[in-house]
Amino acid sequence: MKLNFSLFCLLSIFVLIFGCRPENVDPACLPVSGSLTNIPYLPVPASAAVPVGFPQMEVPPDNPLTIQGVELGRKLFYDPILSADSTQSCFSCHQQSFGFADGLGVSDGIDGISGKRSSMPLINLAFNHQGFFWDGRSASLEEQALLPVEDSVELHNDWDDLICKLTQHDTYPRLFREAFGIEDKIDITKELAAKAIAQFERTIISGNSKYDKFLRGEVFLSDEELNGHDMFFDLAMNKVRFPDSECAHCHGSRLLTINEFRNNGSQEAATLADFEDAGLGGITGNLGDNGKFRIPTLRNIEMSGPYMHDGQFETLEEVIEHYSSGGLSSPNTDPLIYPLNLDAVQKAELLAFLKTLTDTTSLNSPAYSNPF
Ligand code: HEC
Ligand code: HEC
Repeated sequence: MKLNFSLFCLLSIFVLIFGCRPENVDPACLPVSGSLTNIPYLPVPASAAVPVGFPQMEVPPDNPLTIQGVELGRKLFYDPILSADSTQSCFSCHQQSFGFADGLGVSDGIDGISGKRSSMPLINLAFNHQGFFWDGRSASLEEQALLPVEDSVELHNDWDDLICKLTQHDTYPRLFREAFGIEDKIDITKELAAKAIAQFERTIISGNSKYDKFLRGEVFLSDEELNGHDMFFDLAMNKVRFPDSECAHCHGSRLLTINEFRNNGSQEAATLADFEDAGLGGITGNLGDNGKFRIPTLRNIEMSGPYMHDGQFETLEEVIEHYSSGGLSSPNTDPLIYPLNLDAVQKAELLAFLKTLTDTTSLNSPAYSNPF
């Protein structure tokens, strides 16, 4: 009995000392210095091919696109070194085959903890200048890229620790030198890592769907798709057979989003203070902004379900049903959201048009794929 008790004490001490050590933090990680000046710094400007009819791409003057910067950003984007336990990268929740979303309702982070919002497709972000995330809380891609690494439900890492690992890495010091001209390994910073990721993200462009080809006069749409197109853009002459479905007021332009914030009736709320997720209002502090979310692009929409900020709809059929029935009621549901009362044929036509927005070129482009 006595022996057992001593053993118990000994075990407890052992557990106390070793059991509570934070996992995944490498206590031996000390940033390594080392000159890189023998590696040439010859950045080559990269030009992303902007499809005809797209808006101007505005690149911040202090982060021009270079071949080397994009290459580094792509590696970082796909490298699980970014997460505390080296199991996840940006790619885990932003997969090319899902239009750079993740096919989940709400995204799971490294600890298997679910976030409260659905992942967003990362396409044509270079053309958005009105804030990133569902609630617009991040002003630029450079600023945005700093956040997932330390987010407790995303990569749950520590930038100091990550930078330390990058200074010790076999290839990253060279890649940072080639992209940004740093002179020593110790000069790797999170700001440079974020700049590189932002450069890579700006190159992810979708502009070669059947709909784009139709606009360029290369293909015809089927009658069904064309009818859906005309309803989507409120273009049909026969408004009884093809009622205006108002979509393009919000999902308009070649980007299939005007990138503004609206309430499309995705949440029921008795008063402006009752939204489960305040969205834009949570950032601006303006009650009238509660319940508003960034209007997402509909490019590759067939691939990026479940839908809405909280992934409440599994299928596009459910989304169309939502708009057809007028959405959920709240004090600031947008006036463009009202019961469209579409019949089965009209719903099928709208769906057929949405499927013309799938762009297999961007879904399969080797330039955006996993380099490892
Ligand atoms: C655990 C899943 C997860 C990981 C890992 C993750 N993201 Fe995200 N990402 C999300 C979710 C969820 C959102 C929407 C969050 C919100 O709006 O609150 C999002 C939004 C974004 C957006 C905004 C897109 C837009 O149109 O506004 C960008 C850009 C982005 N992520 C880039 C990254 C990068 C870069 C990394 C890696 C450094 C990364 N993400 C890692 C889940 C993830
Ligand atoms: C008043 C502006 C507005 C109108 C009109 C509108 N939408 Fe939306 N749409 C939004 C907003 C805002 C969201 C995101 C809401 C959220 O996440 O809660 C959205 C989300 C979606 C989504 C899900 C996207 C994703 O990535 O999860 C689809 C699909 C969609 N809309 C299709 C349509 C179609 C089809 C129509 C026409 C029948 C339409 N929308 C009309 C504003 C609008």
